[in-house]
Amino acid sequence: MNDTLKINRNWWHSSAEGIPHLITAVPGQRSKQMHANAARYMKGLSSQVKLFPVCFEEGSGITLTDVDGNKYLDFSSGIYVTSLGHCHPKISEAIAYWAKKLMNAHDFTTPVKEKLLEKMAAILPGKLNAVQLYSDGATAVEAAIRAARAITHKHEFISAYRDFHGKSMGAVSCARMHRSETLSYGPMRAAGFYMVPRPDPYRPLWTKADGTIDTDAYIQFYEQFLIEGTVGNVAAFVLEPAQGWAGSIFPPDDFFPKLKSLCEKHEILLYDDEVLAGMGRTGEWLTLNHWNVIPDIVTFGKSFGNGFPVTAMVVSEENGEALEKISASSSYGGNPMACAAALASMEVIEEENILENVRTVGSYFMKRMQQMKMEHPIIGDVKGKGFLLGIELVKDKITKEPFAEAGVSVYQKAFRKGLAWIPAGHILRMSPPLIMDEKYAAMGMDIIEDAISEVEKEFGYK
Ligand SMILES: Cc1ncc(COP(=O)(O)O)c(C=O)c1O
Repeated sequence: MNDTLKINRNWWHSSAEGIPHLITAVPGQRSKQMHANAARYMKGLSSQVKLFPVCFEEGSGITLTDVDGNKYLDFSSGIYVTSLGHCHPKISEAIAYWAKKLMNAHDFTTPVKEKLLEKMAAILPGKLNAVQLYSDGATAVEAAIRAARAITHKHEFISAYRDFHGKSMGAVSCARMHRSETLSYGPMRAAGFYMVPRPDPYRPLWTKADGTIDTDAYIQFYEQFLIEGTVGNVAAFVLEPAQGWAGSIFPPDDFFPKLKSLCEKHEILLYDDEVLAGMGRTGEWLTLNHWNVIPDIVTFGKSFGNGFPVTAMVVSEENGEALEKISASSSYGGNPMACAAALASMEVIEEENILENVRTVGSYFMKRMQQMKMEHPIIGDVKGKGFLLGIELVKDKITKEPFAEAGVSVYQKAFRKGLAWIPAGHILRMSPPLIMDEKYAAMGMDIIEDAISEVEKEFGYK
C-alpha cells in the first residue's frame, strides 16, 4: 500500500488562488436547472440547500466549484466532514488504492485495518482502544447505546437540551425533537431516554451571585434528577463535547470534569459523541481533551475519513468484551477503503501539523469575532474553539431575542459573495477546513462581516 505518500502541506494553495471567483450571479442558470430537476425526485432537502440551490461539481482544498464555473471559499467542510480539504491527494490516493485491490472482506482483518486500529489506540487517551467501525455517525451512536447497556446492565440514558446525535431511533431519542418536526407521528423518544439542560454560558439557566454561569447548580440538578426522574438504572450520559448543530456552544471549563465525577459517583458511563467535534476540529484529537476528561465511550464520524463514509465507536479496554455481546459488526464497517481513508486522515493531521494550525488560526478567528461583536449591534455572542465557531445574532443585546430572519439573510448574502457555508438559524455556524491559513480565514470573516453590515442596514440598525 502506498502509505508512505507524503504531501507538501501547501498542496491546496494553487487551487485557492483568486478565490472567490464568480463569473455569474449565483446560483447560476445551470445550478438552478439541475437543482430544479433533482428536486423533482429528491425530497426532504435541508433548509440550507433550499435557501441556496447551488449545484457543486468539484472541490479542491479550501475551494468548491459549481456547475456554472463559480469558485467559492469553503467555510463549512461539506458539513464538518472534509476537514482536511476537498480531495486531499494522500487520502484520495489511499482510497483509490484499495478501491482497485479489495473493497470488502466483511469483518475480517486486513492490513490497513490493523494499522488504523493501532493508530487509533496511539492517539486516544487512557485505555480507549476497543474499537468497532461503521459507515455513518448514527449507526456508531446506536452501537454506543447498545454497548453502554451491555457494559452496565442498565437501560436509561440522559442527554441534553439541543444536543444532536443523528437520525436513527436511538439517536433521535437523545436529541432535541421539537413538536413541529415530529407532528403526529407518534412518540419519537424511546422509553428510558431523558433530556436535561446543559450549561450555555450565553443563556445560563442558573447563575452565581456575580452573574456567571453556575455549573454546580446544573450538576446538583442532575443528581436530583437521577433520584426523581429515573428509575435508578441510568447507563450513560450521552453528550456532545460541544454542541455543533445547535450553534457551536461550548460548556464552561469546569462542566465536564464535574460531570465525570458525578458519573463516577453513581457508576454511570460518560459517552462522548465526538462525531462532529472530534479529530482535530477544536485543536485536539478529542474536544474532551481540552478539559482532561477521559470518556468511557466515544464515537467518531464526519472528519474521520475526510469525506469517505467511515465512523467508529470506541470503549475502554476493560469494557471491550461488551462489544462481543452486542453483535457489533456491520456490512460496510471497516472495509479497506474506509480504513485507508481514516488512517490517511489521521496521518495527515500529524504530518501537516494540523492541530497546531487549528489552535493558531483558531485564536485569530476568536479575536476577530470578539472585535465584530463590539462593532455590530446584532451580534449578541461569539463562541468557539479552534475551527468550530459560532456568531449568535440577536434583535437586542439586552433581551437576547434570537434573530432568525437576520441569520437567513446573512447566509444568503455571504453565499452570493462566494462563501460556501451552512449556518441554519440565528447562530451563524462556521466550520472551515482545518488546513486553512489566516489569509483565507480573514477573507471569509470579511465576507461574513460585510453581509452582517448589509443586513443591519436592511433591518434599520445602522
Ligand atoms: C454529534 C453528532 N453525532 C452523530 C451525528 C450523526 O452522524 P451521521 O449524519 O453520519 O449519521 C451527527 C451528525 O450531524 C452529529 O453531529
